[in-house]
Amino acid sequence: MNIAIFASGRGSNVQAILNAIDTGVLPARIAVLISNNSHVGAIEIARAHKIQTSHLSQKMFPSEEALSEAMLNVLSLQKAELLVLAGYMKKIPLKVIRRYRNRIVNIHPALLPLFGGAGMYGHFVHEAVIASGMKVSGATVHLVDEEYDRGPIVMQKTVNIEHNDTPELLAAKVLQVEHEIYPFALKAFAEGKIKIEGRKAWIMS
Ligand code: GRF
Repeated sequence: MNIAIFASGRGSNVQAILNAIDTGVLPARIAVLISNNSHVGAIEIARAHKIQTSHLSQKMFPSEEALSEAMLNVLSLQKAELLVLAGYMKKIPLKVIRRYRNRIVNIHPALLPLFGGAGMYGHFVHEAVIASGMKVSGATVHLVDEEYDRGPIVMQKTVNIEHNDTPELLAAKVLQVEHEIYPFALKAFAEGKIKIEGRKAWIMS
């Protein structure tokens, strides 16, 4: 399975996916890493692994249409079969969402449909979770559709929230779970084990 990763930041999930590929756990190859930032950890990790990178930002194009075309060109040139968002901070253009329907996945650092949507990223998520008094949080792998953070949920894993957890501690616990479940969910895509019915998705055993 040819994966195109979209990332904007540190790249720890990119690293986790690469580890899973390198150890033979995930039968896939990263065909390209697309980023809206040219100097971020994710790009460095990709370059160190000789993975093709592509810097595509709205600032470089006169319209969303032009950005979409550029993305679609890169994706088709690299024969991408699955688009994997790993800390990608921009919206995927509608045209790309429609072209790759049910073939775009994201990981979110909370239990969707809670704590998702506009403004819910990075430390804001974990601050909101702690403030809510919830006793569990976790990570969610979901399909990306037109509704931000609302596409069908593929996989979730919880972590317990202890009374002395800070947003930073919770973020670290959730990140560890992300690194575990993202490669696992991607493996299910590679093996054709994802079943999608309307608003629901499952990993078939
Ligand atoms: C992760 O917490 C992920 O859930 C969210 O963005 C963060 C990316 O972290 N979508 P990294 O760049 O993979 O380290």
